[in-house]
Order: sequence, then C-alpha cells, then structure tokens
Amino acid sequence: MPEAMRLILLGPPGAGKGTHAKLLSERYRIPHISTGDLLREIQNKDPLGLGQRVQRTMKEGKLVPDQIVTQLVAERIRRKDAARGFILDGFPRNVHQARELDTVLKYEEESIDLAVYFETSHRVVIERLAGRRVCSHCGANFHLVNIPPRKAEICDFCGGRLIQREDDREETVRKRLQVYKEETAGLVSYYEQLKKLRVISGDLTVSEGQKALIELLEREHVIHD
Ligand code: AP5
Repeated sequence: MPEAMRLILLGPPGAGKGTHAKLLSERYRIPHISTGDLLREIQNKDPLGLGQRVQRTMKEGKLVPDQIVTQLVAERIRRKDAARGFILDGFPRNVHQARELDTVLKYEEESIDLAVYFETSHRVVIERLAGRRVCSHCGANFHLVNIPPRKAEICDFCGGRLIQREDDREETVRKRLQVYKEETAGLVSYYEQLKKLRVISGDLTVSEGQKALIELLEREHVIHD
C-alpha cells in the first residue's frame, strides 16, 4: 500500500477524469477529490445564497470563482483521510488555481507528484458527454452506450433514477469546451515546465486507460513511501 500519492488528472470535460479517479481511489485507498462534486454538494446543501450562485454558474458552463473553489480544496486536502495523498479531478482549472494549490501544499511541506493529462479527441468528448447519465440518488456514473445500466434509466447500485447532468446539454457543453480551451488548456504547459506533466490517451477504453495509468504511476515511482 502506498504511503503517499498526490496526483492531478487533467483533460477536457468528458476525458474520463472522474471515471479513472474513482478507480484509482479504490485501488490505492486515497481520496478522489472532484471539485465538480464538491460544488454540486454545495448546491444541494445550501440551495439559497452561495448554492444558488454556484448552480447558476455551472448551468452556464462557466468557472466558479477561484477563491470559492480554492478554499474548498484547501479545506478538503487538510482532512485526515488525505494525509496519504489525493487524486484531484477538475482542479486546478487555470494557472491561478495551480499556483494557489502549490502555495497551500508548500505550507504543509508537500508538493504534487504528477499531473496526468488525458489527451482526448473532440469526437470522443462529445459522444461521452451526450451519453452520460448519473444516478440522482448516489451519483454513480453511466453511459448509454459505453457503460450502460443493466435496466434502462435505473442505477445498478441503488435503484435510483438516472438523469442527464444539467450541464451536459448541448449548449452548455459547447460553452464548457470553450472555457476549457481558454482557461484550462494552459495548465498543460504549466506542469510541463515543472517537469510534472505526463500524457495518456483519453480515447482508450476504461480498462485500457486504467492499465496505462497504473503502469505510468509504477514506472514513475509516484506511489512512494
Ligand atoms: P466537473 O464536474 O469537474 O466537469 P468536467 O471537468 O467538465 O468533467 P466531466 O465530469 O464532464 O468529465 P470527466 O473527464 O470527469 O469524465 P467522466 O469520467 O465523467 O465540473 C462541472 C462544473 O463545475 C464546471 O463546468 C464549473 O462550472 C465547475 N467547476 C468544477 N471545478 C472547478 C474549478 N476548479 N474551478 C472553477 N469551477 C469549477 O466521463 C464522462 C462520460 O464518459 C461518462 O458517462 C463515463 O461513463 C464515460 N466514460 C468515461 N471514460 C470512458 C472511456 N474510457 N470509455 C468510454 N466511456 C467512458
């Protein structure tokens, strides 16, 4: 069992970051921290005030203000279960967030081990987002074609109803991809300059991608004592 692993998964919406982060988290027993999930939780817990603001921003496919997201992440990575590391999915989203993350970690005398970029073709991203369905009860992720539920529209795990994420509608997807290009794609060169960037194809099947990822982590000795 690894002692520590601090990993960032980068890539466009639909690259499979959440899917791979969940599998890695189960394998290495290190928390999967998704800022998208943390923000969706805020919407549910606090439907007024901040929750409403966050919901509006996500529905429009724009980025939630850096200060809100960075604070959420800083609090989350200080929790006890992240002492042996974490897998960040959806954060950082721009160079400002990346610098803030570096500062938070430096304060704890820690640093990121690697940023893995899932290089994914436009066609694959569109197909995956159009077909994604999530459980309205437990949040489990499915795909109408690639990872279909056993019974149509019903979650395999809890029997909840499967729904389409509000921001997976065509118009919002277009906006999210534009925001990704303008704000997030620049992170690839940020981590490249730090010599922490590694690239994997996001077009592979889930099992091929997971195999490539584990091989990479072992080869790079990211899973360290
Ligand atoms: P977030 O929830 O992070 O969405 P995202 O980054 O757009 O990523 P996705 O969840 O769409 O894609 P993914 O790469 O995780 O793919 P997944 O594994 O699910 O963010 C949502 C919003 O929150 C943002 O727009 C923004 O408003 C806000 N936000 C979040 N973080 C923020 C931040 N740091 N700063 C500011 N705002 C922030 O897979 C997609 C589908 O494909 C699924 O159906 C899955 O089953 C299927 N699939 C996955 N992998 C494969 C595969 N290899 N083969 C076949 N099918 C696959």
